[in-house]
Amino acid sequence: MPTTASAPGKIILLGEHAVVYGRPAIAVPVWETVATATIMDLPAGRHCVIAAPDIGLHTSLIETPASFALALVVRLTLARLNLSPDPNWQIEVSSTIPIASGLGSGAALSTALVRAIYAHVGQPVTPTLLSELVFESERLYHGTPSGIDNTVIAYGLPLWFVKGQLPAIFTPRQPFTLAIADSGIAAPTKTTVGDVRQGWQADSVGYERRFDAIARLTWTARQVIEAGDIAELGALFDRNQALLAELGVSSPPLERLIEAAKAAGALGAKLSGGGRGGNVIALVAPEKVMAVQQALMANGAKNVIVTTVKA
Ligand code: PMV
Repeated sequence: MPTTASAPGKIILLGEHAVVYGRPAIAVPVWETVATATIMDLPAGRHCVIAAPDIGLHTSLIETPASFALALVVRLTLARLNLSPDPNWQIEVSSTIPIASGLGSGAALSTALVRAIYAHVGQPVTPTLLSELVFESERLYHGTPSGIDNTVIAYGLPLWFVKGQLPAIFTPRQPFTLAIADSGIAAPTKTTVGDVRQGWQADSVGYERRFDAIARLTWTARQVIEAGDIAELGALFDRNQALLAELGVSSPPLERLIEAAKAAGALGAKLSGGGRGGNVIALVAPEKVMAVQQALMANGAKNVIVTTVKA
C-alpha cells in the first residue's frame, strides 16, 4: 500500500530578520498550497528511488550527492529510524508551492517526506522531531536559518516563534485573509540576512533599536490576533514594513506592490520573509480580495495566492 503525507506552505506575518537576533516572529501555514510525498514498496532487491515527476527528476538515493537536500533528509530520517540506508522504496514528491518564493517550498517537501517515511513504517512522529530533521536540510539552503520555516510547517498552525525555544501555538479569535503577492524577483534570503548583519555590525545601536521596535509590534500583533482586532493588525503590518525598509530589505518593486494593495483597500501590507524580492502580504477584508488581487497583478505581481488563516 502506498503511503502519502503532505505539508503546507508558510508565510511570516511579522518579525522576520529581527528573529535572527532573538526577537519573536509570527508565522502561519498556507494550506492553499501543499507539498506531498508518496512512498511505494518496490520488489525486494531494488534500490531506493527518489522521483519528482513534475520536474523530471528520477534518481536512486544512493547515487544522489549529500548536497541534495531531499536526499539528505531521507538519509537522516532512515538513520533516525534505524532503517536500511537503501530501502526498496519508490519515493515520489510533488508540490503546488511556488519554488524559491518565500513560501517554504523546500521545507514543506522535506516535511512531507519525513512524515511519509514515519507513516510508511507505522511510527508516530511529533512536530518537534519533524521540525528538527527538516532543519538539517534547511541549513543546506540558508546557512544559519532561525528555524521558523521548518517549525511552522511541521506544526501546520499559527505560531509564535523565538529562535532556540519551543514554539507557542496560538489561536486567532477570527479568521483573516491575506493576499500573498510574488514579486517574481529572486532575492536569496542568505544575501539579505548577510546585508542586515553588515548593517548591524556598522550600527549595532540603531539596528538593535529597530529589532526591539519590531519585537514590540510582534507582541502587539499576537494580542490583536487573539482579540480578533483585524484592522489594528493591518496598521501593525504597515509599521513593521517601515522598519524593514529602514533595515534595507525593501525595494522599489515591493513598495509599489504594497502601495497598490493599500490603494485598492488592503488594511495593511508588508514584505514577508527575506525581502528585496520574494513576497508581499496584504491583509484584506473578504469583500476587497478581488480588487486587491487585481491591483497586485497590475503592479508587477507574478502570482497572487489568497489564504485564510483559520480561527
Ligand atoms: O525568506 P524566508 O521566507 O525563508 O524567511 C526568512 C526569514 C528571515 O528572518 C529573514 C531569516 C530567518 O532565518 O529567519
